Amino acid sequence: MKDIVSLCKRRGFIFPASDIYGGLNGFWDYGPLGVELKNNLRDRWWKDMVLCPPIGPDGNPIDILGVDSSIIQNPKCWEASGHVGGFNDPMVDCKESKKRYRADHIKVFIPKDGEGVNIAFDKDAEEDVIASRLKKLAKGKSAEDYDVTFEKIDADQMANTVGPDVKKPGSLTEPRQFNMMFHTYVGATAGDDNKAYLRPETCAGIFLNFKNVVDSSRARVPFGIAQVGKAFRNEVTPRNFVFRSREFEQMELEWFCEEDEVPMWFDFWVDERTKFWESVGIPKSELHFLDVEKDELAHYSSRTIDVEYRFPFSAPEFDELEGIAHRGCFDLTQHQEFSGTKLEYFDQPTNKRFMPHVIEPSTGLTRGVLALLCQAYTVDESRPSGVYMDFHPSMAPKKAAILPLTAKDEHVPIAQRLYLSLRDEFAVDLDIKQNIGKRYARQDEIGTPFCFTIDNDTISDETVTVRHRNTMKQERIPLDNIKPFLRAEIGK
Ligand code: GAP
Repeated sequence: MKDIVSLCKRRGFIFPASDIYGGLNGFWDYGPLGVELKNNLRDRWWKDMVLCPPIGPDGNPIDILGVDSSIIQNPKCWEASGHVGGFNDPMVDCKESKKRYRADHIKVFIPKDGEGVNIAFDKDAEEDVIASRLKKLAKGKSAEDYDVTFEKIDADQMANTVGPDVKKPGSLTEPRQFNMMFHTYVGATAGDDNKAYLRPETCAGIFLNFKNVVDSSRARVPFGIAQVGKAFRNEVTPRNFVFRSREFEQMELEWFCEEDEVPMWFDFWVDERTKFWESVGIPKSELHFLDVEKDELAHYSSRTIDVEYRFPFSAPEFDELEGIAHRGCFDLTQHQEFSGTKLEYFDQPTNKRFMPHVIEPSTGLTRGVLALLCQAYTVDESRPSGVYMDFHPSMAPKKAAILPLTAKDEHVPIAQRLYLSLRDEFAVDLDIKQNIGKRYARQDEIGTPFCFTIDNDTISDETVTVRHRNTMKQERIPLDNIKPFLRAEIGK
C-alpha cells in the first residue's frame, strides 16, 4: 500500500486533502490523473446503469432513471431512515493516547494462565508488531500464551487492558455509541431547530424522489433510480488510504420491484455487478461474494451479498467493495409514515396498489478507484520505472502518448499534427522533451496503454511505432490507422 500511495502522490492521482497544512485525517483530494480515473469509472457505471442498462432476465430491456439530489435534506428524512437514532458505531477512547478506536477494530490478547495484563492490538496488526509488543509488555510470553478476542470485554477486563498505543493498562473506556453523521445548521442561527445533516449515503435522495419520478416519467415497476454523489461519515477510524474516508462518493441503484420477484432480481443484480467489475479490469478471481450473516445485516436488510475485493491490506483475505442488499419496503414505508405523503405505487394494468420492494447495489466510487489502482499496480524490475499501472484501456486516464523520437524539427510537427487529430476524441498526451526511455517510464507509471513514436521512418512511409504498455512490444502501424486502432482497443 505504501508504494501505491506514494505513486498516487508522485504522479498526481490522489493527494492528502489540505496537504500543505499537514492534511486532515479521512479526507483526500483527487489530482489531474485521479479525477480522470474517477470520472471514467463513474461514467462507465452511469452508462451501464442509466444510459444503456442491461437486458432483464426475461429478455426485455430494463429502465433506470437518474437523479441528482441535494446533500442536505429535511432532517426528518434521517429520523425516518433510522440514521439519527441508529447510525452508530460502538467506539473505545484511550484517555492517555487520546486516540479513538472502533470497538470491532481492536482485538484483545487475554493471558490463558490469567497472569498479567491483557493487551489490545489493531485488528490488522501484523505478527512482527504483535511479537515485539509482547516482548516489551509481557516478558517470557508469546502469542500462543494468549486467547484472542474481538468480542466486547467486560469492565474488569477492560481496566486490566493495555490500549493499542500505550504501555500501561486502564486507559481504555467502555465502548460507547457514536453517531457518524456530520451536522451543520441551516440559516443564521445555530440551534437544535435548524440542525441539518450531510447525507451519510446517497440512496435517501432516491427514496425521497420516488413519487416525483413516478409522477413525472413513464417509469413503471419494475424499474430503477440511480444516483452518484458525495456522502459523508464521521468514521471513527478512517484507514487504508481512501478505502474508508470521511468524505467519499457512492454510486447507488435502487431497483423497485414486486416482492415475489425479489429473488430473481437479486440474482440478476449480483450477476450484472460482477460483470461490471470484470469489464473495468477487476478479474473474478480477485472478487469474493459474502452472504452476510443474519446478525450482521443492516437494520433495513433481510439479505445482503457483499462483493469483496482482495485489497493489498486485506490480502490474502478480501474487504467490501460493494453491497447488494434487499432493503424490503423499509425505506418507502418509513418515509411515507414520517412525511405523511402516500408513496404506494399504483399499477394501472392490474389496478393494484402496493409498496415496491427494493434491491440496492451500492458501491463506493472512490473505493472502486482504489480497487482499480491496486489491481493495476504491477511491479516489473525489468523496466526503468520498475512498475507499470495495468489499467483497462477504457479506465486509463490517458489513452495514448505521442512521442517524437527526438525534438528535431521533422519529428515534432508530425507529432503535433497527430496530437491535434486525436485530442477531440481521446485523452492523449503530447510529450516532446527528455530521452525516450524516461518518457516511456512516465507513461508506464501513469498507465497509458499505448505510446506512438514518430521517427525517421515516419517521414518516409507515414507509419509510427506503437509501444504496448504491458508487453513493451513494438509494432508499426500507418498514421491513418491510429484512430480506428484506438477505438477498437479502448472498446475491448
Ligand atoms: N445505501 C447503502 C449503503 O450506503 P454501505 O455498505 O454503508 O451501504 C455502500 O455503503 C458502499 O459505499 C460500500 O460498499 C463502500 O464501497 C462505500 N463506502 C461506505 N463507507 C465508506 C467510507 N467511509 N469510505 C469510502 N467508501 C465507503
